[in-house]
Amino acid sequence: MIIEPRTRGFICLTSHPKGCEQNVIDQIEYIKSKGAIDGAKKVLVIGASTGFGLASRITSAFGSGASTIGVFFEKPPSEGRPASPGWYNSAAFEKEAHKAGLYAKSINGDAFSNEIKKQTLDLIKADLAQIDMVIYSLASPVRTHPDTGVKYKSVLKPIGAKFQNKTVDFHTGVVSEVSIEPAEGDDIENTVAVMGGEDWKMWIDDLKSEGLLSEGFTTIAYSYIGPSLTEAVYRKGTIGRAKDDLEATAFTISDSLKALKGKAYVSVNKALVTQASSAIPVIPLYISLLYKVMKAEGIHEGCIEQIQRLFQDRLYSAKTPIDDKGRIRIDDWEMRADVQARVAELWKEATTETLPKIGDLKGYEKDFFNLFGFMVEGVDYDKDVNEIVEIPGLQ
Ligand code: NAI
Ligand code: NA
Repeated sequence: MIIEPRTRGFICLTSHPKGCEQNVIDQIEYIKSKGAIDGAKKVLVIGASTGFGLASRITSAFGSGASTIGVFFEKPPSEGRPASPGWYNSAAFEKEAHKAGLYAKSINGDAFSNEIKKQTLDLIKADLAQIDMVIYSLASPVRTHPDTGVKYKSVLKPIGAKFQNKTVDFHTGVVSEVSIEPAEGDDIENTVAVMGGEDWKMWIDDLKSEGLLSEGFTTIAYSYIGPSLTEAVYRKGTIGRAKDDLEATAFTISDSLKALKGKAYVSVNKALVTQASSAIPVIPLYISLLYKVMKAEGIHEGCIEQIQRLFQDRLYSAKTPIDDKGRIRIDDWEMRADVQARVAELWKEATTETLPKIGDLKGYEKDFFNLFGFMVEGVDYDKDVNEIVEIPGLQ
């Protein structure tokens, strides 16, 4: 079959196996070109199939020669229907890792559940004995609590007051006003239950109580801050409360790792086009202006460049630099005063008419389609793709 992008709103319903494979190969080549990183050797990545988690798995494997276990929640292919992109990414990653002689296995299922945790722990016991790093990179709209069975849904809402600002539909380029009603009822606690730190801590507690963490163990999760432009919907909104909780959990986990001389970190990363961020109002307009400015300055990065720099210059540097809240900052170039001042100016000028010139809508669109394996250089989209792609190390 010939696979073409089919979009509905902010999602793409199809994905291209060859395009996803090419994306993974390009990321691997990038990591190899940057040289070895003296990092962890046995790594568990939770949320390993797309975005920052995939980049972390690639950097661990091809930068540090690590054995990796990846956990993710992806849709396998079926007759006449492509898989979700994270499936193809993981298939390509494992194929390349095995070719390079690296251990790589994967588990597909709900990381919030007791079953998937147990399956992962059993796999570590059987194959790796102990691990020295856990990367926690889940982004999910829902979580079923493993103990109570309660299903929580996260929301992206401001807190306290209605939010009104500009946004763009990046498919049409139309800039319009959006207005989002403030959180109500259990919105805040539900969002914290899904995207806060509880599940991260559960993973580390389970691994520790089974003796699966080696001395000097490290774990890292990803957060975001962003500028005042997006503050009301992001950092001071419901999702921001979840990030506050995640960041606080790093300290709780670090305390629990003292006997092991271990440590939990949160890294604040740059705003990037992923499936998760395309769904947040206002963020696509911000990103399209940010990309324009950062590309003009020669400081634009994607997930792989971010994670490479995070590992090389922060996590595995002689002394890991942190901010006054204990966080690693790899959003430093996004948050540079000159960059933010320029974005704020452009924001005022942004209309449907001006945006194609002052913003990087094309770059946004390309990154969005790239997530699904489309618009990737070097891929022949006219060629039939018929094989059902398997993930070689899937358990
Ligand atoms: P993503 O959507 O690309 O990746 C999410 C991953 O989680 C995928 O591997 C997916 O399969 C997995 N997943 C989702 N639900 C799951 C479940 N129930 N069980 C197992 N796996 C599941 O997201 P992205 O953007 O890479 O986000 C990762 C982290 O980085 C999040 O904490 C996010 O808030 C943070 N971050 C994202 C930024 C952005 O601009 N995209 C900026 C800074 C931080
Ligand atoms: Na991820």
